[in-house]
Amino acid sequence: MAPSSAAAGENVTVSVVTSGLSGALADLFGRSGASNGCWCQYWLLGPEYHRRDRGLNRAALMDEAARSTPPGPGLLARSPDGTAVGWARLTPRAALPWLIARLGRHLPDGGRDDGVWSMPCFFVRSRWRSHGVMSALIAAGIGVATDHRLPVLEAYPIDPSVPGATRNRYTGVLPAFLQAGFAEVARPSNDRAVVRYGPSHPCASGSGRSAR
Ligand SMILES: CC(C)(COP(=O)(O)OP(=O)(O)OC[C@H]1O[C@@H](n2cnc3c(N)ncnc32)[C@H](O)[C@@H]1OP(=O)(O)O)[C@@H](O)C(=O)NCCC(=O)NCCS
Repeated sequence: MAPSSAAAGENVTVSVVTSGLSGALADLFGRSGASNGCWCQYWLLGPEYHRRDRGLNRAALMDEAARSTPPGPGLLARSPDGTAVGWARLTPRAALPWLIARLGRHLPDGGRDDGVWSMPCFFVRSRWRSHGVMSALIAAGIGVATDHRLPVLEAYPIDPSVPGATRNRYTGVLPAFLQAGFAEVARPSNDRAVVRYGPSHPCASGSGRSAR
């Protein structure tokens, strides 16, 4: 079922990925494994993800789905007919060594605080883009962070208002995070922000939608 309105994101159901959803997750990532066979392993491995057999990336994500302690490894958005339409990684930041290597020196804690959870990557099924699915995933991330009492939820979105900002927006788009109640805490580069949501933030009692 294709989205029928700009508010389609309102109609998706967002769930924490468990082994029972691994089939739907694999269906979303498809034959190409989302972007260039990454299967969302980039922030774990860096460029190594495209040097090695892509089957290993697929197996790694499926293994995460089977073994992670909730709310990891991420969130899956499904349409009313059950089709998987969007994914957001939601992982302890300490499990993302490439992210810490790339961005650690720009982070408020230098990348050393193992209590920080991270939402560093999104993938929305192409025909469902621009219909609010990423926003629904962000809202659900806030709900999960609240329900699981995660001390800090961090993300690294692109600021599309910066001239020449990268078109590679798999880390999400800054206005969507700000609108959800995240606060910008750092700017590693002109077009990339670091944003955080946590109990100490004034919006922490905001309206994040819960994921099941
Ligand atoms: C980037 C991406 C996640 C956005 O998801 P989406 O569901 O289309 O985003 P939404 O519809 O929720 O948009 C939320 C807001 O961000 C804005 N936005 C979304 N994509 C944008 C873009 N490329 N540039 C500027 N703004 C954008 C929307 O306009 C919307 O703003 P609004 O609330 O004021 O209308 C999606 O396009 C995608 O998955 N791209 C491929 C990423 C990829 O390759 N991932 C693989 C790694 S595993």
